[in-house]
Order: sequence, then C-alpha cells, then structure tokens
Amino acid sequence: MDKKDRVILTGDRPTGRLHIGHYVGSLRRRVQLQNEGEYKKMYVFIADAQALTDNIDNPEKVRQNVIEVALDYLSAGLDPERVTLFIQSQVPELCELSFYFMDMVSVSRLSRNPTVKTEIQMRGFAGESIPVGFFTYPISQAADITAFKATTVPVGEDQKPMLEQANEIVRRFNNIYGGGKDILVEPSIMLPDSQACMRLPGTDGKAKMSKSLGNCIYLSDTPKELKTKVNSMFTDPEHIHVEQPGHLEGNTVFTYLDAFCEDSDFEKFLPDYKNLDELKAHYTRGGLGDGTCKKFLLNILNDRLAPIRERRAYWEQRIPEVYEILRKGCEEARAVAQATLDDVRRAMKINYFDDVELIQEQAKRYSLSKK
Ligand code: TRP
Repeated sequence: MDKKDRVILTGDRPTGRLHIGHYVGSLRRRVQLQNEGEYKKMYVFIADAQALTDNIDNPEKVRQNVIEVALDYLSAGLDPERVTLFIQSQVPELCELSFYFMDMVSVSRLSRNPTVKTEIQMRGFAGESIPVGFFTYPISQAADITAFKATTVPVGEDQKPMLEQANEIVRRFNNIYGGGKDILVEPSIMLPDSQACMRLPGTDGKAKMSKSLGNCIYLSDTPKELKTKVNSMFTDPEHIHVEQPGHLEGNTVFTYLDAFCEDSDFEKFLPDYKNLDELKAHYTRGGLGDGTCKKFLLNILNDRLAPIRERRAYWEQRIPEVYEILRKGCEEARAVAQATLDDVRRAMKINYFDDVELIQEQAKRYSLSKK
C-alpha cells in the first residue's frame, strides 16, 4: 500500500502519566510519522473508556490522567494541526460498533487472548469475577481501530493479540455482510524498531516500567528527579570495581542507551568513544565505571527531554486550550466514525429509515395482499 494512503491510529489508556517506555515504544515513532507526513489521516486518542474497564471505582484517577496524557502528547511533539487528538468516550459510535462486534466473537476466543490472560492474573481477578467489559475490551479495541478504517496501528508487542482479534472480526464482518465488498479494513500492526524499544525495563531492572513498581522515568520528570533516578539505576551487581569486566546482559543503563543513544551523542557528551559498540567493548573488557555510563545516559536523556519539558510548561499554562483541542478532535473523529457506522448499519440491514426500497417493497407487498 502507498504510504500516502495510510490511516494511522493509536491510543493509550489514561491510567498514569506517560513515561520514557511509552516514548521509545511508540510516542517517538508517532511524532516521526507525523513529521514525515506520509499518511492520509492520523489519529491519536485517549482510551478512557478502556481505562475504566478495570478502574470503575476510580473515575477521578481516569479523569485527571486524561489531561496528563493529553499534555504528554502535546509535549512529545504531536501537533493538533496534523493529528486528530480525541477522547474515546466522546465518540459513542465506538460503543455501537462494539455491540455489533460482540456477536462475532466467542467467549472461548476471548479467553485465549494472551495479553488479557496476563492482565487478569496481574490484577488478581479470581475465577469468573472479571468484569465483562474488561474481558471484552479486545472487541472494543477492534471497534476503535475499524471505526476509522485504520490501516496502520503503531503499538507495542503486547498489542499483537488485539490486532489479530481485530483482523478476525473484520474478515468475519466483511464475509457475512460485505456481499463481495470490503466494508471494514484490516489493520496492520507497526512494531517498535528494536528489542530495547519494545519493552524498556524499569530503572530497577524489572521487566517493565510500571507505576505500581515505582521504577518509571516520566516525560514530565524534572532534571533533578531524572538525575536521582538515573544514578540509582540497576547495572551489573558483579561490577564492583572499575577495573572488573562488566556485563551488558540485564544492565539497564545499557538497555536505555540502546534505546536512546545515537552516534552524534558521543561527539557531544563522550568524545573518547565513537559509538555505543566501542563503549560496550570497554565496559565488558573492564576499566569503565558505571558512573561514566550513567552520566552519559543522563546527558542524553536531558537532551531528549528538554524540548518536551519546554512544551509541557507551555501547555500547562493553557489547559482550557488543551480541552478545546480535544473537543475539536472528538468532533472530527465522531464525523468519521458516524460515516463508518452508516456503512455498517446499511450492510447489516438495520438502516430502516434510510432504506427507501425496503419501505416501498413492504408497502407494496401489503397493499397487494389487501386486494
Ligand atoms: N490497549 C491500548 C493500551 O493498553 C490502548 C488502546 C485502546 C489502543 N484502543 C486502541 C491502541 C486502539 C491502539 C489502537 O494502551
């Protein structure tokens, strides 16, 4: 498919501020895509309804984080002139589409979704106590994607099962209702470009950055907070003296360098080395201290976060304007979703009042039978 025809769509649950794991996993890519400009439409949305599926007793948390995530989007460099930013719950057509999709997916199919399985375990939902809305969120996510006829969905690896589910639904829908035509569009996943970016570990070396583990570096962290966090990062516990050989495996500082570092950073911040390979070689050989590596990483992170902090400071002073951007985005998104739902209702033969032929045909049948 021609890049210029792509409809790019992605979103985040507003359960916390966005961290640098979100940044390398997806946010940075979205800004790149936006700046390259090779797409027909791009949507980035805040999945508040999805966040509520397991936060039903915490509406204030979700509400507050809607604005936090919006600020993070704008700070990261998403431009509302080029990308439609919207809030999921304000597009009710998504609920309608989910409702129809529910008839096309079995309980056993949903039970096999590996991401949902893990999430159920993590949240400790025992037996069948899981909320139906949470269990079925992959269906609602399929609606989020297909309502906009998205072709390209930039997300992390953990979202693969959602895309597979969406594609199954689209195929089934088109098969049953398409009459030889494709009403809905099958989306493709767009994964981060490196392993380090796929799943950035927490500063403590644990598998994933997560608010509950307190191991996140947020986009909105101050330089002081950042410094404390980088200095306390997990490295190689066996690397006690500088002259000892260090290990890269599981060494968070090097994983972050993999995700963030470019050759030009060496020129700027660590001119004794040309590139990351040289730095790694020295570290594994022995003679390179963790302190030097952490300082280098800190410089790089500050360099990347500085413009983000600056934009955040700007938008934080303009909260009503941020809401206005979201309101306009919701209106635009809604118009598109409405058009898709018109197609869907027509295909499903539930467009009673628009279907002039149907009305006339039935009228004729009855008037004939009267005679
Ligand atoms: N599930 C995504 C997350 O955990 C959020 C999301 C909801 C999403 N609907 C989507 C992402 C549609 C991409 C496309 O953050």
